[in-house]
Amino acid sequence: MKRTVTTLCALVLMALCAVPLRSYAQVNGELWPDTKGKHINAHGGNIIKYKGTFYWYGENRPYRGFTTEAGVGVYSSKDLKIWKDEGIALAVSEQKGHDIERGCIMERPKVIYNRKTNKFIMLFHLELKGKGYEAARVAFAESDSPTGPFRYLRSTRIHAGRWPFNMTEQEIAYAKTTKANDWKDWWTPEWRQETERGMYLWRDFEGGQMSRDMTVYIDDDGKAYHITSSQENLTLLISELNDDYSDFTGKYVMVAPGGQNEAPTILKHNGTYWMICSGCTGWAPNEARMFHSKSIWGPWTQVASPFTGANATYKNFPASKTFGAQGTYILDTKSLGIKGTKSRFIFMADIWNPEHLSQSLHLWLPIEFGKDGKPVIKWTPNF
Ligand code: GAL
Repeated sequence: MKRTVTTLCALVLMALCAVPLRSYAQVNGELWPDTKGKHINAHGGNIIKYKGTFYWYGENRPYRGFTTEAGVGVYSSKDLKIWKDEGIALAVSEQKGHDIERGCIMERPKVIYNRKTNKFIMLFHLELKGKGYEAARVAFAESDSPTGPFRYLRSTRIHAGRWPFNMTEQEIAYAKTTKANDWKDWWTPEWRQETERGMYLWRDFEGGQMSRDMTVYIDDDGKAYHITSSQENLTLLISELNDDYSDFTGKYVMVAPGGQNEAPTILKHNGTYWMICSGCTGWAPNEARMFHSKSIWGPWTQVASPFTGANATYKNFPASKTFGAQGTYILDTKSLGIKGTKSRFIFMADIWNPEHLSQSLHLWLPIEFGKDGKPVIKWTPNF
């Protein structure tokens, strides 16, 4: 009898222990609960490692509506699987007219740690309250601790009065003759040519370039770069940040002008940079685009999307629609000292749920490399 009771107790204990563990499991295409059982509400973000702990930053989205009501959220983890909600890292302001007043739009936050200053720097896409997507600014915030509270610093359009460093005098002279405001028909060959020659760059030259979907990349030498969708989401800009990551140096280039690339993500493998972006269809998924270059400054060459193969779980999310998702970040497990994942790089993406943005799903897929050296991304239930 005593033995039976002990066995029963052991079984009940085992069952109790097994339940929470199972509920944390990350399965692509399903909700991903945190340690309290709530879906991880960190979208469009990134992950860093600091003193043995991972921190996942992202948009804290409301269940209804799409404006920012709380701020940028942060979660912590020891193993990338079990995540604890650490609250709001950068909170909206309650002050009327403040750049990050409650009801603004904060998107695609990325946090980087600066070894020289020991500060955590957050860059994000900011839209001012009540102005739709017209402000198109990048914002900076900083903190002494990974979980915040981050102090809001400022937001700006970028590179006012500056040309890309690789434009020649002749190219600049031509760009100055373009007239973006006069164009009626987009997508004509003439329009495309003028866009490639800097028509929108010139339009926004004085007030600064637009900056919407963005990421930040730290290279092996510690230099940080900001990659953003600019010029009405038509053209990517890659810009160098200063040594303490608190501002731009002013050095930048245009990439794929007129290509309508959003949601930029980047990795470096065997000396080649690979950039994976999305097209421009709002919350709806579209086919990913991929570029490669030997230098961060280009020239960047476009190749086919790395997404391939069937989606065994969700047939309506094929590879040609990026498995229903839009990228947000590429996790380099080697540089973060992570062992045991299927591949060195993990593509992090959001399967947006526009009705309930907080419930948008997370898609984490391993990036493999084909025989030709190109990244390949296939559907797997987990990373
Ligand atoms: C997407 C973009 C998101 C968000 C959304 C709004 O294209 O990647 O970050 O801005 O549009 O519709």
